[in-house]
Amino acid sequence: MSDPRLAVVILAAGQGTRMRSSTPKLLHPLAGAPIVAHVLATARALEAEHIVAVVRHERDRLVEVIGAELPEAVIVDQDEIPGTGRAVEQAVAALPDDFDGDVLVLNGDVPLLNAGTLAKLLARHREKAAASTLLTAILADPTGYGRVVRSEDGAVDRIVEQKDANETELAVQEINAGVYLFGINGLRDHLADLTTENAQGEKYLTDMIHALRAAGSEVSALHVNEPWIVEGINDRAQLSAAAARLNALIVRGWQLAGVTIQDPATTWIDLTVKLAPDVTILPGTQLKGATVVSTGAIIGPDTTLTDCEIGEDAVVKRTDGTLAIIAEGATVGPFAYLRPGTALGPHGKIGTFVETKNAIIGAGSKVPHLSYIGDTEVGQASNIGAGTITANYDGVNKHRTTVGSYARTGSHNVFVAPVTIGDGAYTGAGSVVRKDVPSGALALSVAPQRNIEGWVAANRPGSDAAAAAATESEAGE
Ligand code: UD1
Ligand code: CA
Repeated sequence: MSDPRLAVVILAAGQGTRMRSSTPKLLHPLAGAPIVAHVLATARALEAEHIVAVVRHERDRLVEVIGAELPEAVIVDQDEIPGTGRAVEQAVAALPDDFDGDVLVLNGDVPLLNAGTLAKLLARHREKAAASTLLTAILADPTGYGRVVRSEDGAVDRIVEQKDANETELAVQEINAGVYLFGINGLRDHLADLTTENAQGEKYLTDMIHALRAAGSEVSALHVNEPWIVEGINDRAQLSAAAARLNALIVRGWQLAGVTIQDPATTWIDLTVKLAPDVTILPGTQLKGATVVSTGAIIGPDTTLTDCEIGEDAVVKRTDGTLAIIAEGATVGPFAYLRPGTALGPHGKIGTFVETKNAIIGAGSKVPHLSYIGDTEVGQASNIGAGTITANYDGVNKHRTTVGSYARTGSHNVFVAPVTIGDGAYTGAGSVVRKDVPSGALALSVAPQRNIEGWVAANRPGSDAAAAAATESEAGE
């Protein structure tokens, strides 16, 4: 059931110059999702009747993300008049004329705010029947934020932006979180009167507070006790601080859900990842995107998995993987590189210094050492020798290699695709396999070894090798 008396406005039109980035600020990732996506998710949880998002800078890229996260949002394009006040003015104009409820304004760059805090803000606003209720926090270092200036009786009087503040105002530690509720009538009455006569030449939404007070309206404020909830992201230092905060919450959440996480400080988990109880995560591990890990699996140390599926009791050590599926009881690494399309069957092994891509490796099959296996299918219980390369690319096209079940291929082989090695087949060490190997056959492509006696003495006289060989043969006499 949506709240018919609530409209949410998300401010996402700003340029974000302090990021010094070609990527719009609000699209920088935080726990795997764009900054603004967190705000959109919070907005969705409030079940408002109307949701408006204001865009301008890089509007198409923003609209794409907004459309994906919150398709019901109405998009409003801010014109050339800058400032949060102008953004809200245009958003209000997009609401139906007969809407007479409350407008919740959210800054697109305040991503850690949760819906619970906003529900409290809304309750306070309605209980006090205030014209506006703002969220504030006391910050040890309030630099950059708008300061909340209160009158003698403690009531909120106005908000002064950092750049417009005098010394007394700068000393105020209570800051405006950029999150407010307004009765829509107050906005309709006063937004048009706000000016751009300030240090930044912008129409400040924050000036609404004093406008309402001057008109004799009630302005209320709700304090958040944990100031990090309302920290805004303007530059990359703030981005990493917010990312660390959010990650700490995510890690703790999984710990309480039964996941062993040895070192929270070096473990990074996207919001979208799913972990089962009794998973163990070792230091230096990043789990990203749609990664899912089943119970009993051990991941890490020093492992990055993006969009991977890890089965029960699997062990993935010092590995980089993307779009790979590792079945139950399988082991991977240390030092494996799993590229998209890798699927390792139950109790299989992808070992040390092995790269795989588009490779389906069956149950119990092993690629233990120093290999590249691409565009390949291996049946079950086969063993691929150390140092095997699938030569899958002829410079124009990619070709497939097929290895059957119970095959044993020798060390240092090249499988020149397209090629098939049959069930139960063997290949000799150092083979270059260009032709199919029938089931049960042994393939040898290396010429028999010839030893030319005395070659060193004849061709490298006086060398250390010749001396060593001479000593060796005397000792043998
Ligand atoms: C704003 C507040 C400040 C508060 C801080 C909290 C104003 C004038 N100041 O400052 O009091 O302490 O947030 O984080 O509101 N935006 C638009 N259109 C614009 C300009 C900005 O939609 O023309 C959007 C931005 O994309 C951003 C949000 O509004 O999501 C805030 O803008 P920003 O420039 O970051 O404001 P601050 O200087 O941080
Ligand atoms: Ca900001």
